[in-house]
Amino acid sequence: MIKRTIVTLPGDGIGKTVLEEAVRVLDAAGFQADYVHGDIGWEFWKSEGNPLPERTIQLIETYKIALFGAITSKPKDEAFNELAPELKEKGLVYSSPIVGLRQHFGLDICLRPCHSYKGNPLNFIRRGKDNLIEEPEVDVAIFRQNTEGLYGGVEWSNPPQKVYDALMTHPKFVKNFGQVPVDEISVSTRIFTRRATERILMAAFQHAQKYGYKSVTLCEKPNVIRETSGMMYKMAKEIQKNKFPEIELWNTNIDAQMMWLTKNPEDYGVIVAGNMFGDIVSDAFAGLIGGLGFACSAQYNPDSGIGVFEPTHGSAPKYAGYPVSIVNPVAMIESACMMLDFIDEQRIAFKIRKAVAQVIAEGKVRTYDMEKLPGNPEVLEKGAASTRQMADEIISKL
Ligand code: NAI
Ligand code: MG
Repeated sequence: MIKRTIVTLPGDGIGKTVLEEAVRVLDAAGFQADYVHGDIGWEFWKSEGNPLPERTIQLIETYKIALFGAITSKPKDEAFNELAPELKEKGLVYSSPIVGLRQHFGLDICLRPCHSYKGNPLNFIRRGKDNLIEEPEVDVAIFRQNTEGLYGGVEWSNPPQKVYDALMTHPKFVKNFGQVPVDEISVSTRIFTRRATERILMAAFQHAQKYGYKSVTLCEKPNVIRETSGMMYKMAKEIQKNKFPEIELWNTNIDAQMMWLTKNPEDYGVIVAGNMFGDIVSDAFAGLIGGLGFACSAQYNPDSGIGVFEPTHGSAPKYAGYPVSIVNPVAMIESACMMLDFIDEQRIAFKIRKAVAQVIAEGKVRTYDMEKLPGNPEVLEKGAASTRQMADEIISKL
């Protein structure tokens, strides 16, 4: 095994705690790496006016693979108020360092797998035939376009004249909004490019092929959002027909998908969507397998080989100050496994996942979320495991 250098980006709040535990698990599993720390998050916004310092970008550029905890973001006014006094006059505007990373490195492929662990008390259950309780096995891989669409940042309130004039060239705008004063209009665009759409579709189909999923579901809304979703659906059909005839292409609307999700989640394999619908459908599926304590993700650029691996949860500031951390480290540990898959260390990833599965199946050591307790420091007295105890238990199974 070649020794790797991994950039660790703990960020804020519980991001720091869970990342530390994930690195302990990686070490214990025999993954050989040097870790270099990268600054990111709220602290650096306050002190430097930049939550994603250039030195951090350089580190990722150099080493290519990063493990990321979580960051804190706050609304505009609070962001300004917390800025160091000497930076207040500089006209700095806060923007999310995660979005910054995605855009800087073109991390346009986001993968969020959701699979249920046997014995997880948070797994989705439903009532089946003869009133029997069923616990369907969920195993979906959600591919979310990560850089465009509604989160592309091309938006205005009180749009400038040129934008307004352009909008007025569209008959529907004239009809529905033409009488509204311009300063009462806000516009957020949803731009899809053919190139990025093809990349996310290809990533989804290739994943289905590699891991033996029988279907890829496009989850958009092409019947209403005709240009963007419509283009994506058309391209998906072509790609399926020409390159992956052995894989079925299913087409669901995001709203209907939200309904079917709890009806027959076991039917879905790979799901692919644009940025916002991908965000929504992945959170919804995560809810079926235990929620934020279990939801992991990868964001990468297949060309440059740069990848950032992170749990989808945030910095949970409420829990960050506890003397003993109570949050579930599994989402971060799973994200570390996705990193291992990405750099062809599947053997170690397999070992860690097996250990996690064993701990969950035994059910002896469970964090507060799995014990269904409201999160507070007293959960430890009530029998919930701490973040460290959970990681230790996983390590003991390796
Ligand atoms: P959050 O994900 O930090 O926490 C929401 C709730 O989920 C927590 O109160 C807790 O009950 C639960 N939770 C989260 N992680 C958990 C874990 N590992 N184990 C057990 N329970 C867990 O979201 P919230 O409160 O909306 O945002 C807090 C901060 O995090 C904000 O500043 C937000 O901007 C930021 N954020 C950052 C993200 C990132 O770094 N990728 C993603 C989402 C939010
Ligand atoms: Mg989300």
